[in-house]
Amino acid sequence: MSQNLTFSTAISGHTSNDIELRGIPLTELIAEANFVSTLFLSLTGRKPNEAEEKVLNALLVAAIDHGIEPASGFVPRVVASSGNSVLTCMATSLLALGPYHGGAITGAMEVLKTVDDYSEDKEVAATWIVKKYRAEHRRIPGFGHPIYKKKDPRTQQLFSLAREAGMSLDYMNLALQIEHTLEEETLKKLVINIDGAMAALLLTMGFDVLSGNALFGVARAAGSIAHIIEEQNSGDWVRRLSPGDVTYTPESFD
Ligand SMILES: CC(C)(COP(=O)(O)OP(=O)(O)OC[C@H]1O[C@@H](n2cnc3c(N)ncnc32)[C@H](O)[C@@H]1OP(=O)(O)O)[C@@H](O)C(=O)NCCC(=O)NCCS
Repeated sequence: MSQNLTFSTAISGHTSNDIELRGIPLTELIAEANFVSTLFLSLTGRKPNEAEEKVLNALLVAAIDHGIEPASGFVPRVVASSGNSVLTCMATSLLALGPYHGGAITGAMEVLKTVDDYSEDKEVAATWIVKKYRAEHRRIPGFGHPIYKKKDPRTQQLFSLAREAGMSLDYMNLALQIEHTLEEETLKKLVINIDGAMAALLLTMGFDVLSGNALFGVARAAGSIAHIIEEQNSGDWVRRLSPGDVTYTPESFD
């Protein structure tokens, strides 16, 4: 069997003197750029303008932490209490993300793109997608939250920042239209959550849909580091549930 281990990449490479990212010497970026603008460059192949840099930064800040309660918060702390390395614990923060928690951005980006392509009339398009998902008993990614039932404060702040920065409103308005139609159809307020907000703004800036969940992971894994260190410095080793928190229901074989 032949093996093909040759790669071709437009992202990065190095000479004997420097490393290049998207054609720009890393030494130049080290001197002039910040992490957010470099991440933007790495993912899109171009430098962000001022508004884009501000909004991507805000998205990463918004996703960095949500306390210990969600899985990406408590799983790494429990794993840390078993004495694992910080890197292992960070990886579990990523593994705890999924379609119902922090991993709905890529799906929400796909939905927004599909709805955008469906019709120029956003009301018609939003009604179509809401009815379709309801008929299939599926949840629209990027909407609804276990705590925020009237509004997700992060979405409000991100959208107002993007508006103030002069960004295109198209995807934000589309998400707001879906939120409105969902409420009309289900009689429940299913807010645009952080995943939905990130989806609208990442599409506005031209990011690939596959980068959506990954960018949430970048922020949340970074945010987990302080929790892991705090946990390991706390001396509370080997955390476990209390017996009263677990109900044992063995099957009867009579
Ligand atoms: C995030 C989520 C798990 C929160 O759930 P919750 O507030 O605990 O709400 P529930 O799971 O109890 O759902 C309540 C009702 O609203 C419906 N619902 C919730 N989110 C919905 C969505 N995005 N689209 C359509 N219906 C939705 C549920 O089907 C349920 O209906 P029912 O009462 O007829 O069964 C849920 O809204 C969801 O799955 N959203 C989509 C995935 C997502 O965006 N994840 C990222 C979260 S930050």
